[in-house]
Amino acid sequence: MSHITSPLTTHLRPPNTEPVQGESVELPADHVLVLKVIPLPGDANANGDIFGGWVMAQVDLAGSVLPARYAQGRMATVAVNQFVFKQPVRVGDILSFLAKMERIGRTSMTVNVGVYAERFNNQGRYIKVTEAQLTYVAIDDQGKPRPVPVSAM
Ligand SMILES: CC(C)(COP(=O)(O)OP(=O)(O)OC[C@H]1O[C@@H](n2cnc3c(N)ncnc32)[C@H](O)[C@@H]1OP(=O)(O)O)[C@@H](O)C(=O)NCCC(=O)NCCS
Repeated sequence: MSHITSPLTTHLRPPNTEPVQGESVELPADHVLVLKVIPLPGDANANGDIFGGWVMAQVDLAGSVLPARYAQGRMATVAVNQFVFKQPVRVGDILSFLAKMERIGRTSMTVNVGVYAERFNNQGRYIKVTEAQLTYVAIDDQGKPRPVPVSAM
């Protein structure tokens, strides 16, 4: 019986499982765990590492968790002020997203997000893979900025 290979898969590399060097760190005590997620093979890029756009989407979600407590309603991401990919993310890593409120303005809220990987074969050791700072704006039903409720939190 002949082996048939799908033309859709012949140009894709399998997930990259080579060990990644990286210094393990303590999780920051002043940040809050807002999301944990494990990337799957469908989230990988052509190199076999995790696609940066997938990481950015997760960071946008994770970053919104603390501001949502202040906004108490609709909000939108207005800016990604900083985004650094420090280390590659691999299929099977357990990713922890930790966040800290940096600033609450009149209508905007700025948050710092750190992403830490427990490697597939090295659980319990955290490698910082990404750091980002994002700003969210509380918006009304017309999509216009509205003041962040002062009574929140
Ligand atoms: C978010 C949005 C409603 C803001 O409207 P706007 O008219 O530009 O608002 P303003 O200029 O009054 O600014 C509102 C707040 O955002 C802050 N802000 C605006 N641009 C910013 C930037 N580039 N970086 C950081 N903060 C910013 C302002 O400083 C202000 O904060 P403050 O009220 O706490 O002082 C509007 O820009 C928008 O709808 N953007 C699209 C949002 C979106 O679709 N996000 C998802 C993208 S995939």
